[in-house]
Amino acid sequence: MSDPSPFKSRRDHLLAKIAERGGGVAVIPTAPEVIRNRDTHYRYRHDSYFYYLTGFREPEAVLLLVAGNEPRAILLCRERDPEREIWDGFRHGPEAACERFELDEAHAVGAVDEILAEILPDQPAIFYSLGHDAAWDHRLTQALNAVRANTRSGATAPPTIHDVRTLLDEMRLIKDQAEIAVMRRAAAISVEAHRQAMRTARPGVFEYEIEATLEQAFRRAGAQAPAYPSIVASGPNACVLHYVENDRRMADGELLLIDAGCELDGYASDITRSFPVGGRFAGPQRDIYELVLAAQYAAIAETRPGATWNAPHDAAVAVLARGLIDLGLLRGSVDTVLENQDYRRFYMHRTGHWLGLDVHDAGDYKQGGEWRPLQPGMTLTIEPGCYVRPADDIPEAFWNIGVRIEDDALVTADGCELITAGAPKTVDEIEQWMAAGGDGA
Ligand code: GLY
Ligand code: MN
Ligand code: MN
Repeated sequence: MSDPSPFKSRRDHLLAKIAERGGGVAVIPTAPEVIRNRDTHYRYRHDSYFYYLTGFREPEAVLLLVAGNEPRAILLCRERDPEREIWDGFRHGPEAACERFELDEAHAVGAVDEILAEILPDQPAIFYSLGHDAAWDHRLTQALNAVRANTRSGATAPPTIHDVRTLLDEMRLIKDQAEIAVMRRAAAISVEAHRQAMRTARPGVFEYEIEATLEQAFRRAGAQAPAYPSIVASGPNACVLHYVENDRRMADGELLLIDAGCELDGYASDITRSFPVGGRFAGPQRDIYELVLAAQYAAIAETRPGATWNAPHDAAVAVLARGLIDLGLLRGSVDTVLENQDYRRFYMHRTGHWLGLDVHDAGDYKQGGEWRPLQPGMTLTIEPGCYVRPADDIPEAFWNIGVRIEDDALVTADGCELITAGAPKTVDEIEQWMAAGGDGA
């Protein structure tokens, strides 16, 4: 027999965790389809937890995991439908899905209420993401009420609902080999997209043209979508953290900040590069850029097993505080700038986040009130920045300089590996890469 898929291994792991907590049934629906207008839907995206446990990407599906002496994984999904498949495409149907996705049982999703009515009585607990999907909250409440209405037959309704995310988030935090392989491929596609974007940028080009270059590179390489709305922010727009209009014409002498990453087979990548539209960093741009790069190097050095989640952030902030004082943008000592958080005027976000199925991935950052230690297999971003808005007390040469440098890191046994390192990053690398690109070839 071949090895079980990573999806089945994860289900088995979750079933074991539920059994350790006294048993019960996990109810994990996928995401609903969402109407954009009239009969047109937003492009469908499965629920990350559901996908993590099944690998199944069709809408209208739910996974039921029954823990106990005879653990069972049951999928409910759409039935085959020749007429609908002409319009919407292939459906596995329960029979094929059961085999292909290594489940114990699969049924038509229309039978969900009936199957819940069979499974829920006498379960010690339900493991479910209460509050995540109002329609499912209602369905489950109805199913529980149906069991309660029937207690005279001797059935008991599960007395407890646990949030299944507390178990799944801990699992998702440490990536398995299959996940790391996909994340590496997603990272490589995004690296190539950034390389192409750097060579497409030049004075007179619109931000959306760069967005098109990035997203063409994603799709051409087989990624399904951007993992989040691409930020292509030139000049003053680089100081707007979530800028997504991408409709400005860029000019010589400005910086361009690109924060874009693809989603491949359910996994996100997340890269930011900042570079001069004209291909050469001017004085203050170079100063700020080198400062942010030094902050990123300091954060990378603190990204290793045993260091706490906040150590990379503290390291980046210390470098930025010193540098901002040296450049004359902040006054006082490093200690007072850190203590009063004066640096937040120029650096107002944190230095990273977990990365995985979601761009801001699942997982707690603190445990028992303390920043958690990093462990091998965790994946996170390292993304310090510096954003200088026009102000009377800031020399004009610094106005509208916005720099962020973001890489994706895998914590290894003795440090971290940057899986996005192939995107040009030092001043020399960027200038050489852009100069060699000529007219965008
Ligand atoms: N692109 C979203 C982020 O960097 O957090
Ligand atoms: Mn990020
Ligand atoms: Mn980003």
